[in-house]
Amino acid sequence: MDHFSHRDGVLHCEDLPLPEIAERVGTPVYVYSSATMVRHAEVLKDALAPLGNPLIAYAVKANPNAAVLATLAAQGLGADVVSGGEYRRAVAAGVLPEKIVFSGVGKTAEEMALALEGGLFQFNLESVEEAEMLSEVASRLGRTAPIGFRVNPDVAAGTHAKISTGSAENKFGVPAGDVMAAYARAAELPGLRVQGVAVHIGSQLTSLAPLESAFRKVGALIGELRAAGHVIEVADLGGGLGITYDPALPPPPSPEDYGDMVCRVAKHWGVRLVFEPGRLIVGNAGVLLARVIRVKPGVAHPFVVLDAAMNDLMRPTLYDAWHAIEAVAPHGGRSTLNVVGPVCETGDTFATGREMDTVQAGDLVIFRTAGAYAAAMSSTYNSRPLTPEVLVRGSEMAVVRERIDIDRLIAADRIPSWLAGSER
Ligand code: LLP
Repeated sequence: MDHFSHRDGVLHCEDLPLPEIAERVGTPVYVYSSATMVRHAEVLKDALAPLGNPLIAYAVKANPNAAVLATLAAQGLGADVVSGGEYRRAVAAGVLPEKIVFSGVGKTAEEMALALEGGLFQFNLESVEEAEMLSEVASRLGRTAPIGFRVNPDVAAGTHAKISTGSAENKFGVPAGDVMAAYARAAELPGLRVQGVAVHIGSQLTSLAPLESAFRKVGALIGELRAAGHVIEVADLGGGLGITYDPALPPPPSPEDYGDMVCRVAKHWGVRLVFEPGRLIVGNAGVLLARVIRVKPGVAHPFVVLDAAMNDLMRPTLYDAWHAIEAVAPHGGRSTLNVVGPVCETGDTFATGREMDTVQAGDLVIFRTAGAYAAAMSSTYNSRPLTPEVLVRGSEMAVVRERIDIDRLIAADRIPSWLAGSER
């Protein structure tokens, strides 16, 4: 459920009409609903409550905006970070270091040092080589690094290939056959404290079956590790639960279904469970608000050219992702349309032959379900400003990221001295 709905024929975010935001901030702009994020955090906390005292470490990569992080930190959530930048953002926004897990296949020595100095709950390591580097860094700093290995359970996640991470051929995790040797090596390395195990098989999963199969493998592994003398107190089950993009498709499993499944599988493992949800928390708490520049005739269907483009919302071109597109103040009537942005690539296409609200030049439209992996993945391609973000709470709004305009982009470039003054 979200808080973007029509009132008197105009789409609102909570109690604020979207045209008012477009008026005040301009378009394109990302708009987030605070109440939706809070609700999702609460629903997930309730669904996981029977598991004791799980740590819900929000996957910062989904939406790293400071206001989003602060909203979720106030709900008691921790953070799953994958870079020094995410670590710093999480701490700066008020996430407690003891609720931070550090994931990712390419942590550098600098990033390891940053998290060791600032404190964290656990490093999820992805190779013996990484454990060796962390051991060196921790020893040099006189710290002890709490670790778990991320296991690659070799299950097919059944999601888009680019966001599937749990197959043997993916770069992620330690292959099942090498896990025992990895723990044995970590146990003899100075500066490391083995405490857990981790798994994450992919994102936007619409079935619980691959998750359950991966979790069962983790359960068996915990038994083997303990039998080999390791103390395993933590199991990090990752994120990945899918959300509804297209209401015409069957809904993904609910957080309650997910919680029931985890209870069935993991309740008696005798560990503290960690979860790393991203999309589930913020996905449908955001929309991208854009304006129609013009409608251009097309051979098959007219092209609706928006002021938002692939640089603002990458998901359609990158993953063939489907986002609902709706008029903010529908005139009535439906049409079959191609929806595109102004960027000079055919890939800058949001929808082809989409049956949707009829729109005309100057109209506002939204892309739904644009709270996760949307602003986070935006760029300035084609020298387009970086899209601003607005957080709404009731009838209040705050610009939580300003538009990074062209002046600032130009100012960040430098012309080297050997070119300065060269005239043609
Ligand atoms: N934990 C780890 C280790 C991850 O790699 C990810 C996502 C998550 C947690 C959070 O997964 P979630 O609960 O959000 O599904 N850009 C893509 C999604 C990439 C996901 C990467 N890893 C998209 O737009 O669909």
